[in-house]
Amino acid sequence: MARVYLTTPIYYVNDKPHIGHAYTSLATDVLARWKRLEGHEVFFLTGTDEHGQKVEKAAQDAGMAPQEFTDQVSQSFRTLAERMGFSNDDFIRTTEPRHKRACTALWEELTRRDEIYLGHYEGWYAVRDEGFYGPDELTERDGVKYAPSGAPVAWVKEPSYFFRLSKWQDWLLRYYEENPDFIAPASRRNEVIAFVKSGLQDLSISRTSFTWGVPVPGDPAHVMYVWLDALTNYITAAGYPDGDAPRWPFWTDHDVTHFVGKDIVRFHAIYWPAFLAAAGIAPPKRVFAHGWWTNEGQKISKSLGNVIDPLALIDEYGLDPIRYFLLREVPFGNDGDFSRTALANRTNGELADTLGNLANRTLSLIQRNCEGRLPAATAGRAEDAALLEGLATLPARVGAHLDAQEFHLALEAIMAEARAANGYITVMQPWALKKTDAVRMAEVLRQLHNAIRVFATVLQPVMPTTMAALLDQLGVPEQARGLADLATPLPEGTALPPPSPLFRKIEAPA
Ligand code: MSP
Repeated sequence: MARVYLTTPIYYVNDKPHIGHAYTSLATDVLARWKRLEGHEVFFLTGTDEHGQKVEKAAQDAGMAPQEFTDQVSQSFRTLAERMGFSNDDFIRTTEPRHKRACTALWEELTRRDEIYLGHYEGWYAVRDEGFYGPDELTERDGVKYAPSGAPVAWVKEPSYFFRLSKWQDWLLRYYEENPDFIAPASRRNEVIAFVKSGLQDLSISRTSFTWGVPVPGDPAHVMYVWLDALTNYITAAGYPDGDAPRWPFWTDHDVTHFVGKDIVRFHAIYWPAFLAAAGIAPPKRVFAHGWWTNEGQKISKSLGNVIDPLALIDEYGLDPIRYFLLREVPFGNDGDFSRTALANRTNGELADTLGNLANRTLSLIQRNCEGRLPAATAGRAEDAALLEGLATLPARVGAHLDAQEFHLALEAIMAEARAANGYITVMQPWALKKTDAVRMAEVLRQLHNAIRVFATVLQPVMPTTMAALLDQLGVPEQARGLADLATPLPEGTALPPPSPLFRKIEAPA
């Protein structure tokens, strides 16, 4: 099985984490867990982006030294990762020595290859995005100019090092053409291609008007542009510049996917592959850009006071229903609206009434009618065929959807089979068979047990805690919870513990 490298963006530590941060990392976590279930060797990276003008200003506003400030806010992202159950293998901070070393090495390599020159920058800059914009990209309201993201821009004029981005324009277009899956979804890919075709300017990659950053080697009056610094984290964590670092093969095996929000596609799909190619390093395989959440129909913003705190949500509703909802409700590339009514509908209708009820009915009947012991596995009769066929192909279908980052379709496919299993139980009426045909009753309950085992196994990446509890109730040993284990039936007579409900219903707001 191959190596798979998955990353989240590294989060700015200017403020505490909100639902958007939790969302990007959750999707990455689910794919990482799925790839491990498939038997791959996975490296899942997240972390914090701690340099630059935006963070420096946030520290000043908090009346703290930048390092002290970033230590504190970075910790809140670690806490988020723990509370959200993320299974990241590393947590990188751009203020760590290993990262400064990697940035310095990359800069020196680019210099050696004549990809960097000293000049003078004069143009528009948005501190909120830490991004440069051309005049034709801006809109003006009440005398203030704004970037397409809505961030205000200011005119910057200072000495700067430049990266020869313009030189990489044709190479980038060829790379997009030859690797049609590099940028997804397709709408983002088209945007990026149009932008690159419109002509790339050389990119300012150092700043002199503040000091909170990695110093430029040999010219410490400059700090590196925060996006060059930040993007480099993905190779720092793999061990760059040490070619024999244990994790470097995760980069060179080329199965690298960067999960990002739609607002930061340009940095990942244009600047990043160009920096890498210019330094002689292979670009990543894929950049997937997800959409943005709104809150009950409104844009989420601090000034509107409607920021959603993921920790508060978990406290109120439990972790797994939130993990399920975020990936189930909205196609991953689209914008979506967070509403408590929608959360209640998904949790009650799909988790409690469909999956929870199926498990509870089946396991209670086994408890009551089979003395709590698993009936023998059988091939199945004609009436079982539809259920069995759906189950046989389910893991592969879920895997294909996840590989395409179609989380909602993966979950819909599982729910469709769970609904089918509920239909099967209604038709078969195992409770009635007890008196008329006890052999058939045992067969039906075993088919249902098998079905629930498949659902619990494939749902582990999305709801790790609840599915571990369900697999316990199903009597599946901890070492037999991988996808490959589904081929081995559990032994007849396995003792099952008495079932208990898996999901609590949520009251919908009036
Ligand atoms: N530091 C940069 C990333 C550097 S990666 C080399 C950054 N950080 S961020 O903290 O501002 O944003 C991180 C992620 O959160 C982005 O992918 C962004 O799209 C996501 N979200 C921020 N608000 C969001 C929503 N309201 N909804 C969904 N995701 C959103 O950008």
